[in-house]
Amino acid sequence: MSLIDTAREVRENAYAPYSHFKVGAALRGASGAVYRGCNVENVAYPEGTCAEAGAIAAMVAAGETELTEVAVIADSPMPVSPCGGCRQKLAEFGRHDVKVTLATTDGKVFETTIGDLLPGVFSVEHMERT
Ligand code: THU
Repeated sequence: MSLIDTAREVRENAYAPYSHFKVGAALRGASGAVYRGCNVENVAYPEGTCAEAGAIAAMVAAGETELTEVAVIADSPMPVSPCGGCRQKLAEFGRHDVKVTLATTDGKVFETTIGDLLPGVFSVEHMERT
């Protein structure tokens, strides 16, 4: 199954009773294993988590800390755009050239990279004097 099909499948499990905007994410770890995540909202709105964050948490819980490919899908007019926080989270675990496929449920696809999603990323180099 392709990464985007995996994201499409896990999107069905999204818990989004407040926004009604279901998102699915799938990523491949350096081992080749695939990890899935969906958004999980909360009545205390800021406590909700994004699909990308869920997939990253699944990867780290499985003992991996490097991702090599990412796919995200939602029922949106144009390919879903990861929020700023998720861009930083992806950059924590993936190189700048890691491919990120953003898609809509009706087949629109936009291919980008972690580096293009977050120019000027805050990185460990910024803390070299500490
Ligand atoms: N959301 C994601 O899970 N990933 C994205 O890339 C964009 C937004 C979620 C957060 C919230 O549950 C809902 O979509 C609406 O913002």
